[in-house]
Amino acid sequence: MEEMEQSLRELEMWLQEALAAADSVAAVEALRVATLGKKGRLTRLLQNLRHLPKKERARQGAAANILKKTALHLIQTRLSTLQKAELDASLAAERIDTTLPARPEQMGRIHPVSQTLDEIMAIFGWMGFTAVEGPEIEDDFHNFTALNIPPEHPARQMHDTFYLPERADGKRFLLRTHTSPVQIRVLETERPPIHIIAPGRVYRRDSDMTHTPMFHQVEGLVVDSTINFSNMKNCILLFINSFFEKYDIQIRFRPSFFPFTVLSAEVDINSAIEKKLMTCTSYEGWLEIIGCGMVHPHVLNSCGLDPEHWQGFALGMGVERLAMLKYGIPDLRTFYEPDIRWLQHYGLLFMDVPSVFGRR
Ligand code: DAH
Repeated sequence: MEEMEQSLRELEMWLQEALAAADSVAAVEALRVATLGKKGRLTRLLQNLRHLPKKERARQGAAANILKKTALHLIQTRLSTLQKAELDASLAAERIDTTLPARPEQMGRIHPVSQTLDEIMAIFGWMGFTAVEGPEIEDDFHNFTALNIPPEHPARQMHDTFYLPERADGKRFLLRTHTSPVQIRVLETERPPIHIIAPGRVYRRDSDMTHTPMFHQVEGLVVDSTINFSNMKNCILLFINSFFEKYDIQIRFRPSFFPFTVLSAEVDINSAIEKKLMTCTSYEGWLEIIGCGMVHPHVLNSCGLDPEHWQGFALGMGVERLAMLKYGIPDLRTFYEPDIRWLQHYGLLFMDVPSVFGRR
């Protein structure tokens, strides 16, 4: 009896000392097995209880069970301390010093599309526009109908839409073919005055020298009670001059058609005159860079705005086209071929971002 009590005390002291000396998770695990495992010291003591008289057995059994709990607690505590220490050590060993200078041969580059987007956003931000985003998976209503493009309208064919499989409830979604649906999303939720710019990816079933199935657009929308065509013209001129960092660029506004604008125009830039700017293109002549116009009364009406009181202008531009012109990149498809040499050549260094003035 005495013997048993003595053993329990000894065992507890032994375990405490051994745990304090254990310096790894594995060492603690070994102690756990040596104590509580099938052939562990405490397990064996518990087994020996059956040799004791019944009364004694209950008393000693209780004491042994208390020790079992204590042992588990001691092991767990030591384990947590060591685990934390091991984690701290591995975090310290894996630490990356981000202040180390970059190795020039490994310097990352910014993709021309990211750079161009940053520049466009900086210029419009400076003009007082707010950036907003819309979903890339759109419904028919926002991508077409609300933009005054009803079903069966020929403009729907022009867009070569990627449709998603029809859902069980009969609804069919699509990948947006332009950023113009963001106009609708903004008009549905905000009241004028509105000055927004919406960058993002758009998708069309098209792939050749001058088309990729995914590309980027930036949409602009201004709505207020005294907005006219010359406001739009001025805004676009200011943008083009700032973007190309030249104030004598020859551009023209050519009458055009978009279902969601009336008094629509396309803005062309003269690549024959701007040879220096566009070292990339063998094509010499007018190049379209922006579509724009006064927001169609149907669009305002469908968003609950009275066209007698509110007017607006909208514009949309292709980011890749602008990047090609500014950075002299001849082939659109190369933008999305994962070729590191291309990125090293055309990519930009991060210190260049985004500069409206002072490049060259
Ligand atoms: N959404 C047109 C397209 O993808 C571009 C566009 C034209 C946007 C005129 C506009 C606009 O906001 O007013 O071809």
